[in-house]
Amino acid sequence: MNFADKNILIAASGGIAAYKTAQLVRTLVKYNARVRVMMTPTATQFVSPLTFETLSGHPVLLDLFPEQGGASTAHIDWARWADVIVVCPATANTMAKLAHGLADNAVTTTLSATTAPVLLCPAMNKEMYASKAHQDNQKRLQDLGYRLVEPSQGWLACGEEGWGRLADLSVIIEAIEDTLYGTHEFAEKHFLISAGPTRENIDPVRYISNRSSGKMGYALARQAFLRGAQVTVVTGPTTLELPPGIRRVDVENAREMTAAIEAHYHECDVLLMVAAVADFRPSQVAEEKIKKKNISHVLHLTENPDILNLLAPHKKGRIHVGFSLETNNIVEHSLEKLKQKKLDLIIANNPREQGAGFDHDTNRVTIVFADGQTRESPLMDKTSIADQILDEIRILLNQHKS
Ligand code: C5P
Repeated sequence: MNFADKNILIAASGGIAAYKTAQLVRTLVKYNARVRVMMTPTATQFVSPLTFETLSGHPVLLDLFPEQGGASTAHIDWARWADVIVVCPATANTMAKLAHGLADNAVTTTLSATTAPVLLCPAMNKEMYASKAHQDNQKRLQDLGYRLVEPSQGWLACGEEGWGRLADLSVIIEAIEDTLYGTHEFAEKHFLISAGPTRENIDPVRYISNRSSGKMGYALARQAFLRGAQVTVVTGPTTLELPPGIRRVDVENAREMTAAIEAHYHECDVLLMVAAVADFRPSQVAEEKIKKKNISHVLHLTENPDILNLLAPHKKGRIHVGFSLETNNIVEHSLEKLKQKKLDLIIANNPREQGAGFDHDTNRVTIVFADGQTRESPLMDKTSIADQILDEIRILLNQHKS
């Protein structure tokens, strides 16, 4: 392993596993990385800053306002210096702060100021790890683009056995390597992804929409971004967030979505239409709220433009991927759509299946290829489904190249 020319910033927060961080620093230095360490005040109760200073060969960042004076913007310089930041151990407390944007010490402030990838290596008591509050924070952090090095199961310092033990150092080092070198397979590639539902106004208070949550599209955006792609997400109304670094274009209705996709289409290599675009819109949007008794007389529908169909003639070397929701003859109907819309792949799912389709964190899909072949996924979280789809897209991009 060689990390020559890489700047690795270790952030130690206050848990007993901090003693293992000393070994991590030593190993990274042995692998030729330039290593610096910053510590939360509580971490210094477990390991002396002198240990890290000696191992890294660099003073440790402890305070936002060092007693010996010096620039009060050190955290910004450190945030920029890092190629990767590894929070090891990451306590429930530090993770909770990060999940909510708190910046109240040198570690959390530096982390909130960085654009470098951040790896979180949680280590804590098993009940703390399993608690709803921590799991919610952890999920939110992943949604924000932080990478997680999952803890392992085993004997914990508190004398109990369970999940919450710091991952093995070899696993952490592999994750650092993967972050620094392994995830650039989509470098230079631009992904344009639509996500969420559209809302078609009827009058100032009513609209037509659907149950799409945006979770699948956002998972694809995050995972493509983590693999090095430039990502633009054109999103209908959702409550979800995207990591900084992904360009986000908010739209409301199908016509706005069409215009936004068209505006960014020229720069994309891959178009992923994950949005559940409403097929119809009210022919006219009433200026005043329509009276209940009149609504069935005045509500007439017009078909929305089909974005994939519109763009099919302009496709050239791009990859087009569509999604298809069907409740029967899923593969057959999806393949018809693939042909009609000139897609490279279509991802079919059945909203009636348990745990699949709209609004779930999980999904089960069938990937349908242009030659009619199919690949079924098991019921998995949407991040893993996104990874499977991206693996297929990588193969298609490589085929286009050769
Ligand atoms: O034909 P159907 O609406 O079932 O096809 C679904 C696929 O087409 C999805 O990928 C969706 O994002 C896309 N679509 C579109 N424009 C529309 C409706 C759907 O591009 N107006």
